[in-house]
Amino acid sequence: MSDRPLAVVTGATGGIGRRICLSLAESGYDLVAQFHVDAEGAASLEAAVTSLGCRCRTVAADLSSGAGIDAVVQAVDDGIGRDETIRVRALVNNAAKLLGPSFDTATLDDFDAYFAINTRAAFFLAQRLVRVMPAGASIVNISSASAHFSSPGDIVYAMSKAAVESMTANMAEAVASRGVRVNAIVPGFTNNGHPAFDDERTRTYMSSFSVLGGVSDPAHVAAAVLFLVSDASARTTGSILDVSGGSTLGARGVRAHSVRDLL
Ligand SMILES: NC(=O)c1ccc[n+]([C@@H]2O[C@H](COP(=O)([O-])OP(=O)(O)OC[C@H]3O[C@@H](n4cnc5c(N)ncnc54)[C@H](OP(=O)(O)O)[C@@H]3O)[C@@H](O)[C@H]2O)c1
Repeated sequence: MSDRPLAVVTGATGGIGRRICLSLAESGYDLVAQFHVDAEGAASLEAAVTSLGCRCRTVAADLSSGAGIDAVVQAVDDGIGRDETIRVRALVNNAAKLLGPSFDTATLDDFDAYFAINTRAAFFLAQRLVRVMPAGASIVNISSASAHFSSPGDIVYAMSKAAVESMTANMAEAVASRGVRVNAIVPGFTNNGHPAFDDERTRTYMSSFSVLGGVSDPAHVAAAVLFLVSDASARTTGSILDVSGGSTLGARGVRAHSVRDLL
């Protein structure tokens, strides 16, 4: 029997995570899809992946805790235990606590929560899962354009994503001898289904970040993931792939403390 590629995707019920999962399934990947609380979204994703002819195991896990990380690893191990033809070809660290808090209001608990979910979980999932990844497999970390410009209202989120990019470079060298590649993707504002994307004033503000104008679609992020997990990117590791519409180039017509201030 031929090997079945498996992708582990965190934050699979979010706007971007769901699209990443569906694009991977369309390319023949079975999935371990982590979510936090959105059981309805997880069930809907599982049905959609199954209808594409792939297997999908959804895992409810709070990635702010070690137990949450254990739950994802256990789901992968269970799958391999049941079917030894499974090969973990991809880990997409996509789950995050988004935007905020500000320099003035951030608490110790906020700081720890953002770094635990956005940075620490990505690190330890990679450390734990790389052991079952064959040569040729890929780790993709989802960063954010906010790591590349100042937005003091979102300072802790931005810092957690800057750490993700540093982690990407360091981890790429750490696992290179295994033949595993590690890259990051930088989305800008991306319509994840949040009502903010339907509000004209907020959308104008978000569009002002991109030199191309407008906001991105989850499909733009998913296409970059597909590239980075494919052999087409076999010589790409430790890189940061920007899909932010040039939001990191510094164009910004309107300034606000945080997009949250406009909501
Ligand atoms: N959308 C944007 O404009 C944008 C811009 C730049 C970067 N990004 C990055 O793109 C990625 C996906 O963002 P998105 O827009 O799709 O976000 P989203 O729609 O808010 O989805 C967030 C996902 O993370 C999960 N999650 C939240 N807290 C968690 C926790 N404590 N433990 C485990 N999982 C948790 C959520 O699970 P539940 O659904 O179960 O709550 C959900 O699946 C993130 O890394 C984000 O930083 C997004």
